[in-house]
Amino acid sequence: MSPVSGSGANPLRDPADRRLPRIAGPSGLVIFGVTGDLSRKKLMPAVYDLANRGLLPPGFSLVGFARRDWEHEDFAEVVHDAVKEHSRTPFREEVWQQLIQGMRFVQGTFDDDEAFERLRATIGELDKAQGTGGNFAFYLSVPPRSFPVVIQQLKKHGLADQSSGSWRRAVIEKPFGHDLASAEELNKVVHEVFEPDQVFRIDHYLGKETVQNILALRFANTMFEPIWNRSFVDHVQITMAEDIGIGGRAGYYDGIGAARDVIQNHLLQLMALTAMEEPASFGADALAAEKEKVLGAVRLPKDLGSSTVRGQYAAGWQGGEKVIGYLEEDGIDAKSKTDTYAAIKLEVDNRRWAGVPFYLRTGKRLGRRVTEIAVVFQRAPHSPFDTTATEELGQNAVVIRVQPDEGVTVRFGSKVPGTSMEIRDVSMDFAYGESFTESSPEAYERLILDVLLGDANLFPRTEEVELSWKILDPIEQYWDKHGRPAQYKSGTWGPVEADEMLARDGRSWRRP
Ligand SMILES: NC(=O)c1ccc[n+]([C@@H]2O[C@H](COP(=O)([O-])OP(=O)(O)OC[C@H]3O[C@@H](n4cnc5c(N)ncnc54)[C@H](OP(=O)(O)O)[C@@H]3O)[C@@H](O)[C@H]2O)c1
Repeated sequence: MSPVSGSGANPLRDPADRRLPRIAGPSGLVIFGVTGDLSRKKLMPAVYDLANRGLLPPGFSLVGFARRDWEHEDFAEVVHDAVKEHSRTPFREEVWQQLIQGMRFVQGTFDDDEAFERLRATIGELDKAQGTGGNFAFYLSVPPRSFPVVIQQLKKHGLADQSSGSWRRAVIEKPFGHDLASAEELNKVVHEVFEPDQVFRIDHYLGKETVQNILALRFANTMFEPIWNRSFVDHVQITMAEDIGIGGRAGYYDGIGAARDVIQNHLLQLMALTAMEEPASFGADALAAEKEKVLGAVRLPKDLGSSTVRGQYAAGWQGGEKVIGYLEEDGIDAKSKTDTYAAIKLEVDNRRWAGVPFYLRTGKRLGRRVTEIAVVFQRAPHSPFDTTATEELGQNAVVIRVQPDEGVTVRFGSKVPGTSMEIRDVSMDFAYGESFTESSPEAYERLILDVLLGDANLFPRTEEVELSWKILDPIEQYWDKHGRPAQYKSGTWGPVEADEMLARDGRSWRRP
């Protein structure tokens, strides 16, 4: 095939061509907490999927660190089972056989100096045997209270040192702190050991295709951006609803709650991407700078009592099954005030958004599992139709469906056929599954590959994390001092207080 004429460079050979698959260079990944839930369900399968897609280097190495008294073979078996059960792509023996060459297990606890020395020796051995070039990422898939000790052990045993052209990176799971003070404290510990460009904080929502598509939708098209502002937008609703309860995660969830678990990270990130200005480039710094401007301009309503709601699920029915309430769950104190539902109203004090409310809500045991961003537009300033003709007409909306039915819906009014004039809402839908033959990688596939490539675009920086806690802290403090969470029946869409909160503004929640 001849090169593309005219422009000179063949885009297919251009190293900056972002359509080309990106393949990680020589490297390895150490997973702390490798026996945990996240590692088994997401991380190990994502590593296999990357290998299966040919995106890992031939000598890629995977080191598991955990307390169990395992041999390398036991570890390989655990990875094998996790991959078979949870990976996205089909199991291929030849890919597995190659991956297994670089698999090692190091037994120990996080305070065990000898275990970290064994880890150091293992990495040295892999550098020689597998050609990993000293390049290792350390994934902290561990209880948040263990983040500092693991980081300090990495420093103490020289594992964070980047010598002679090699790199070392730290990947830190959420939650990044419990409030602003603890996030600052954790940032201090992390940055005593790692430079900012060595730290990758996971917000797995940012690894989702649909979330990256917010940027494409807004900045690659002309039809949305001119109306994406206070002159046309009435309000924005960002929802992350789960139909499940806390499962066996009482120890993690109680005392944290929905707002800290979901709003502080996922929902504020979605809000920042929806509201931000066009970045100067799609580099990590430019993107973060625009998101930080939005988070820094967020204003909390004066009356937190009437503009925030927290709830707790009570017994009810879900998917045809009777389910128990939060306070009856195993391991939960019967007096717990932890929120399993949270809804808040925020504004962004800048020229584009002044006066436009952003309603954020999340909850467990709601009507169905769905995450979406709905940008709801104002009604037409004047209607030439009789009021009866538009009785059934709602507000125009652009809805970004993040999961599970990934796509975008545009809702607008249309004439009902056969009537002289009646206008009702209709939808135009884009669904990933119908428009593209390529299937979407799992968020963790994308994020682990980005870590190995040193691409920090999709990882929140220190400032974003701290700005997000600054937004949430006053709300949590208000809730601590005032009453208890409202109860809502499992399987419904949350407490009536949340409906009343929007009704006071003359609006209502979407029922996705
Ligand atoms: N699970 C999820 O879906 C999810 C989602 C988002 C974020 N996260 C975050 O990801 C991290 C891991 O979550 P997870 O659900 O996988 O937790 P988990 O199931 O409780 O696993 C924790 C892991 O840490 C190990 N561990 C704990 N204390 C240790 C110690 N002192 N020394 C050595 N190993 C120790 C455990 O080893 P043993 O098996 O030997 O006890 C286990 O492998 C957490 O920060 C969590 O907030 C999880």
